[in-house]
Amino acid sequence: MKRLRFVVTAGPTREHLDPVRFLSNPSTGKMGFAVARAAAARGHDVTLIAGPVSLKTPKGVRRVDVTSARDMLAAVERELLSPLPDLAARALAKAVPLTPTVFVSTAAVADWRPAKCAARKLKKGQMSDTLKLVRNPDILKTVGRRLANSSSPSLPHPPTYLVGFAAETNDVIAEARRKCREKNLEMIVANDVTEKGAGFGTDTNRVTLLRRDGSVEKLPMMTKLAVARRIVRACEDFCP
Ligand code: C5P
Repeated sequence: MKRLRFVVTAGPTREHLDPVRFLSNPSTGKMGFAVARAAAARGHDVTLIAGPVSLKTPKGVRRVDVTSARDMLAAVERELLSPLPDLAARALAKAVPLTPTVFVSTAAVADWRPAKCAARKLKKGQMSDTLKLVRNPDILKTVGRRLANSSSPSLPHPPTYLVGFAAETNDVIAEARRKCREKNLEMIVANDVTEKGAGFGTDTNRVTLLRRDGSVEKLPMMTKLAVARRIVRACEDFCP
């Protein structure tokens, strides 16, 4: 079986307004950790970039811990866009194809962050009733664009395939299809987070896999690990 490289993000991000207060969401990281575990169990090379979660690192997985969306973007860029001189040189010298990389963006990245973060805990009297927010970078979109613009013949990047998640509350398939096109993804995993037994914090999920070529595969309710195994197999299928 071909060995792939997986880079997986998981969990929430935290956007601090001072050292003890932050904006975040209820993601527990279970889906992303399951993807990392399933990929490692298939013998792939796996790096897991995790927001603040309380899960154990799966066996055989290299883990990088981050806090904010900007930290997560920097870690993803380091993994996907840093020059790979040894690998590239090997490929050029021997014409060995570089290992295809799959970026699975499972993380529930906070879309906004406080415009300012105080270095010390804010006293109640120092806080106003309104909080000014600014947009966070879209990690998946950013790396997709940068990968498309970064091919250098002297330092090639391995072919990189992007897989996103779409946690929706309505128009699930139409929204997922739009995101797949907009973020230039190979595949998107769509789920309705209002459904019982699916979405944040549960051990099960019911998802639909939508591919770039328009194919749609609706999976029954299953454990997150079983969903993760299906995702990994689908990635093996579309990687050359
Ligand atoms: O939040 P949204 O529904 O657009 O998320 C779709 C995909 O984009 C997910 O895979 C998520 O991990 C990724 N995303 C991201 N950076 C963001 C927001 C979402 O990488 N700021």
